[in-house]
Amino acid sequence: MIKLTRANEPDFKTELGILLKSNRLGKSIHVFDELDSTQDYANTLPNIESMHGTIIIANRQNMGKGRIGRSWISPKGGLWMSIIFRPKFSVNSIIFTQFIGAVAIAEAIMEVTKIRCTLKWPNDVLINEKKVCGILVDVNVQNNNKIIVMGIGLNANIATSLVNDNLTDNSIKATSLSKEYGTDVDLVHLTKVIVDRIEYYYYDLLSTGKTLEIINLWKKNSDIIGQEAIVYDGNETIVGQVVDIDKDGSLLMKLGDASIKSVKYYSNVSFR
Ligand code: ATP
Ligand code: BTN
Repeated sequence: MIKLTRANEPDFKTELGILLKSNRLGKSIHVFDELDSTQDYANTLPNIESMHGTIIIANRQNMGKGRIGRSWISPKGGLWMSIIFRPKFSVNSIIFTQFIGAVAIAEAIMEVTKIRCTLKWPNDVLINEKKVCGILVDVNVQNNNKIIVMGIGLNANIATSLVNDNLTDNSIKATSLSKEYGTDVDLVHLTKVIVDRIEYYYYDLLSTGKTLEIINLWKKNSDIIGQEAIVYDGNETIVGQVVDIDKDGSLLMKLGDASIKSVKYYSNVSFR
């Protein structure tokens, strides 16, 4: 069940609305004090309310979700946001939404805090090898209507113990911006910078169709090239070295027999 409590102080919504006044994304902003999941909320909004660029934010989520049904710990102080896109590109291009999200967040964090992030395949933003942000992209296709929901879970102003004490032992450790920066960040300003960057890259890709630009920016902030990757494909396990990312967003892996295997971004891949 989706739990809703609309934020009673309208500050965040009002302030963000003013900052995003001349943006194309954020023409409609919903802010809640508490929600089960902004992603579920966005995914179930009726068609007429899920206009392109709609932004849903919750101060905290009770049932935040990560990839493949994993749970996302979302206490107050983080940025838990979903953005709705009605893209004009094909469903096969959704990986680029994920690249756009990750690059935009890394750039926004650099602009606001001067902290350099690294990007981890396929959807994580790290600081000092700890996870500060995860991105989840859902695609809904209804009667030829494509809707992409980009979910951003950014540990902004939170105590890292709230997350780390609740992770399973083999999970990558979490960090937060306030921990790394030494003080809280202005969440409204940070959100505005993130939305600006996402907007820039989204419309750039739409107008130029040049996928390699965003891929190259993503690669520049990641150390994926040269890493050994293991792909779990049904009963088969394939091991190889990442040599590049293809223009369709697939990982290109060199196998033991020197052949190149193209691995779709949604495949189950882990790195050694
Ligand atoms: P993969 O390499 O497959 O991406 P992952 O551990 O990064 O592995 P994701 O699906 O990207 O997995 O992220 C979900 C996981 O993130 C959860 O299973 C949990 O371990 C962890 N997690 C949950 N909440 C947070 C949070 N607020 N900050 C950082 N990590 C979190
Ligand atoms: C991941 O790393 O697995 C992705 C995590 C995505 C979390 C965000 S928080 C806002 C939005 N609402 C959700 O329930 N999930 C995404």
